[in-house]
Amino acid sequence: MQQITLTQPDDWHLHVRTGDMLKTVINHTAKQFARAIIMPNLQPPVSNVAQALSYQQEIQQATSSAYAFTPLMVLYLTNSTTIEDVKQAAESAAVQAFKLYPAGATTNSDQGVTDLQAMFPVFEAMEKHHVPLLIHGEVTDAEIDIFDRERLFIDQKLRFIHQNFPALRIVLEHVTTREAVQFVQETPANIGATITPQHLLYNRNAMLVGGIKPHYYCLPILKRESHRLALVAAATSGNPKFFLGTDSAPHLKHLKETSCGCAGCYSAYGAIELYAQAFEQANALDKLEGFASFYGADFYQLPRNTKQITLEKIDWQVPNDYAIAEGMQLTPLKAGEMLHWKLKG
Ligand code: NCD
Ligand code: ZN
Repeated sequence: MQQITLTQPDDWHLHVRTGDMLKTVINHTAKQFARAIIMPNLQPPVSNVAQALSYQQEIQQATSSAYAFTPLMVLYLTNSTTIEDVKQAAESAAVQAFKLYPAGATTNSDQGVTDLQAMFPVFEAMEKHHVPLLIHGEVTDAEIDIFDRERLFIDQKLRFIHQNFPALRIVLEHVTTREAVQFVQETPANIGATITPQHLLYNRNAMLVGGIKPHYYCLPILKRESHRLALVAAATSGNPKFFLGTDSAPHLKHLKETSCGCAGCYSAYGAIELYAQAFEQANALDKLEGFASFYGADFYQLPRNTKQITLEKIDWQVPNDYAIAEGMQLTPLKAGEMLHWKLKG
């Protein structure tokens, strides 16, 4: 049988929520990944070190003791984040970064930043204290077409932030466009990007042709095929600026399958298998380990993992749903379909 062995990967962009949802999804992640960057968009958001430590403890308690897994915490930037918050984050071993959500850009972003320029003293402190800035890169103006929001964020906001804080380490999260890939390629090594499995595997037809398929709806929204191809080329290029971040974002089935469904794809159940499928389709399985296991750790200046995982070439069927609580289900990406790689053990 065909198999591949990799250094254990990390997930550099993950939503795990709280309560019953957390208890299910965290073990899907922990069985494959050694570490994950935990997104702070709870309600209320995780916006200071004390909240991050308490959320980290909740995550650790929900994780099976069978797994050695470290949740890496992130603070949510709000209009009231202070320079003192940045200093405390820099001194905390648990906190790795701040996340910038433009207000209104995505799930639970209403506490996000409304005036970027007003945040400049905070960005300056982050640059000085070597704290990375993770960015949801979409403009939010109501009149801007949803398919253009990432490209315009780069031109109108991101270039400006980078020019003003050239040494600030920035991760442009879940990139979805050719323009984002180009921006990351053209900037220095302190600008990186995560890429999700859904943006490598699908274009917007998956979501819209033959009926609206809400389980493919995430933000930034799936784009046209030429953008998907640019993302696949970037992920499989061996360029260390691009690394794995699933953006696995679980929402209960009934909240996605409704007249105004939530944004987010649930991929953590089989994340490394989904990436293996995308890399295999691109004839680039030899590039998977760098993308999944090395470049993110290098960007965050953390040690690379030393354990290994093995994937076997076996077909298996993705469950239609995962039970979260009485009458509450979570529908995974590729529900009921076949995956062609399986994590061993
Ligand atoms: C994320 C979520 O549900 O928290 N949703 C999504 O579509 N990606 C938020 C985010 O990362 O934008
Ligand atoms: Zn996300």
